[in-house]
Amino acid sequence: MAIEEEPAARLTALLETAGRLRPLFESGGASTLLAGRTAVLAFFENSTRTRSAFTRAAHLLGLNVLPFDAGISSAKKGETLRDTALNLAAMRPALFVVRHSAPDAPRQVAGWTGIPTVNAGGGAHEHPTQGLLDAFCLQREFGRIAGLKFVICGDLRHSRVARSNLHLLTKLGAQVTLVAPPTLGFDAGWPLPAGASIAADFDAAIPDADAVMVLRLQHERMEGPFLPPGGEYRARWGLTAARAEKMKPGAIVMHPGPMNRGVEIDSSVADGPHSVILPRSRSASRCAWR
Ligand code: NCD
Repeated sequence: MAIEEEPAARLTALLETAGRLRPLFESGGASTLLAGRTAVLAFFENSTRTRSAFTRAAHLLGLNVLPFDAGISSAKKGETLRDTALNLAAMRPALFVVRHSAPDAPRQVAGWTGIPTVNAGGGAHEHPTQGLLDAFCLQREFGRIAGLKFVICGDLRHSRVARSNLHLLTKLGAQVTLVAPPTLGFDAGWPLPAGASIAADFDAAIPDADAVMVLRLQHERMEGPFLPPGGEYRARWGLTAARAEKMKPGAIVMHPGPMNRGVEIDSSVADGPHSVILPRSRSASRCAWR
């Protein structure tokens, strides 16, 4: 699944389903909805939040989890993705959850195996469930998504989170402003959806924003000198304490994680009053259940 290809009505329906299932998570209960079935979590790239969230969700729905860790698998011995997928399919899972550095890998796994496959991050292309989670968070914080002003700043070029959020939030009626260093924006000529715009100046975009999302610099996907030297990144594109002070009351700071504190976000902002990134305490937690 790629958010870009989905109609708004289906995305809204997914968010409504998430809302209906949320009490299950809050109560810590368990459902028998998918009891006795198995989900393969096939992660070929590192993950903290996404992997643990899928595992937790699977348990809440009564699924058995078959974890697959590429780092200790036969992928290291030269096994192709197709052979790995078919080997895992032989375990008769009901579901695959796939994260891979190749953008099309989740779709390929679904095609080779005929088993429903959730895209948990495909290369620099899309990360649909992170987008849905961020939309769910916005809906809970503001009671709506339409009309919200959402700013994304950082390494857009390599960010699947940025692409999924861009498509999802504009489809749901938000205005999305994109800010990035000149070398790390989306490719020139890449068509922006209606409702999206590019801004050169992060400072100018902040006072009006309902939500500011900052992104990590994805060094592992960079092939060449993309970055200005020294501390220039933080000075121009980091969400510093001084910038966060310019935010509206009630505006929120988001980050899909993992954070590189002191680079794209100051620690005092990540842990500050606008932030919904991590739970500060059980009572103060807003969207940080993610
Ligand atoms: C992101 C990812 O892997 O795309 N994190 C996540 O899934 N929550 C962002 C990143 O790696 O910077």
